[in-house]
Amino acid sequence: MIDIHSHILPGIDDGSRDTEMSLQMLERISGQDIDTVFLTPHFYADMNDPETFIRDRRSAFMNLVEALKERQTPCPRLLAGAEVHYYRGIGRSEHISKLCMGISRFILIEPMFRPWTPAFVDEIRELGYSEDLKVIIAHIERYFDQDKDLVNALISDPNIYIQANAEFFVDKKTRRRALKMFGEGSIDFLGSDCHNTTSRIPNLGEAMEIITDKFGSSALSRIEDNNDMLLHEAMEG
Ligand SMILES: [Fe+2]
Repeated sequence: MIDIHSHILPGIDDGSRDTEMSLQMLERISGQDIDTVFLTPHFYADMNDPETFIRDRRSAFMNLVEALKERQTPCPRLLAGAEVHYYRGIGRSEHISKLCMGISRFILIEPMFRPWTPAFVDEIRELGYSEDLKVIIAHIERYFDQDKDLVNALISDPNIYIQANAEFFVDKKTRRRALKMFGEGSIDFLGSDCHNTTSRIPNLGEAMEIITDKFGSSALSRIEDNNDMLLHEAMEG
């Protein structure tokens, strides 16, 4: 399994505060049957430019790799990505493809939290039609208080990929809805969106167990197929 959404890189966003915490997060992941983790720090266009972001991300990545070597911590394959917060005109940005996952065309987009508008959804869908990008919507479950028709327009669009957080399955209050969505085939990718070792932990393994308990051991194969497609592109372009 691949965890496509995480904030494990140290000291770059509101995720892991230092390499020590990052190592602890990676230790928790080993043993969860996860072989690849995308490191996806937040990117906010109003606070950062892609070049600076990529430079900071590279330096955080190197710090983590050094710490891993020193401790000889067992570790899944780590690949760089970003969680790109939506901004108007995102599709016209010259450097947007630099924020994709690895060297793929997949881009993890965090939709806005203020009320969605038809124009916003149209812009995201247009992006999904572009040949240069494949849009993955981050943590869809955070947007269920938005206009239902607009959320469904993204979920049902065959060019838009949908990511759900492990916590959507783990939290008993939302589990039923998460499993229903999963059963309907509305979820394409899974991620822990882990930020630390206390309140937002790496818990994708737990979500995987909940899904296979409900649907059987082959239930994750559709996600694995999508993961294979993403991984292939992320590593080979
Ligand atoms: Fe996130």
